[in-house]
Amino acid sequence: MSVAVPAVAVTDLHVRYGAAVALDGVDLRIAPGRVHGLIGMNGSGKSTLFKAMMGLVRARSGDVLLFGGSSDAARRAGRVAYAPQNEAVDWEFPVSVRDVVATGRYGRIGGYRRLRRDDHAAVDAALDRVELTDLADRQIGALSGGQRKRAFVARGLAQEAELLLLDEPFAGVDKRSEATLTALLRDLAAEGRTVLVSTHDIIAVPALCDEVALLNRRIIAQGPVADTLRPELLADAFGGFVPASALGVAA
Ligand SMILES: Nc1ncnc2c1ncn2[C@@H]1O[C@H](COP(=O)(O)OP(=O)(O)O)[C@@H](O)[C@H]1O
Ligand SMILES: [Mg+2]
Repeated sequence: MSVAVPAVAVTDLHVRYGAAVALDGVDLRIAPGRVHGLIGMNGSGKSTLFKAMMGLVRARSGDVLLFGGSSDAARRAGRVAYAPQNEAVDWEFPVSVRDVVATGRYGRIGGYRRLRRDDHAAVDAALDRVELTDLADRQIGALSGGQRKRAFVARGLAQEAELLLLDEPFAGVDKRSEATLTALLRDLAAEGRTVLVSTHDIIAVPALCDEVALLNRRIIAQGPVADTLRPELLADAFGGFVPASALGVAA
């Protein structure tokens, strides 16, 4: 048995927005080197959980550990990359795809230094892996939604992050981006990186994920895909409504 430190360990996490409870005692362990799905309907707390992992929302109580240390420490060390559901980016701003990916190197080189040869090489390699080399000089706002998601994943690769937190990377993306991302995330896990990806699209899960966690303000179930995407658990996670798309997946 592996005794590896979990990439993510969330314990009894409670988050509220005013009086509204968003997370109500979430416990989650994410083993390294796998693709994990975070599945839940709209409003189930997926984005809030990502933000809590990144220290972007304050928990009322509970703990988040990344690689056994604080979220702050993991972020400062560049070990975690986060692609938010709605990127807080001014899409009119004149930065290229390559510029966005290159920001993944800044933490490594410090604020005012110029990119060196190995930084440029890392950016090129990341662009290549997400199949955006041809669009590297395009303004970021001129990309499709799926291409932007790939650009943010490339930024995480350029950063050499060990943990990628991807909030709904498949929402509204084209088929090529979905296929490219799915294959890439599988490869990254095979290399030992850890991926946590939220989605409400259960159909996409078996091809993508090793494990899933069902979230409905708390974790309803967590485990291998086949054990977890079961009708009774999905009914719990989706508030009594099992989406028809789930029925083809859960035996
Ligand atoms: N900034 C906010 N202020 C108030 N309520 C919020 C805020 N962000 C999210 N919520 C609420 O918290 C709950 C969880 O939201 P969210 O984490 O975005 O879920 P999901 O990503 O699964 O759709 C929802 O009820 C949502 O309306
Ligand atoms: Mg969300």
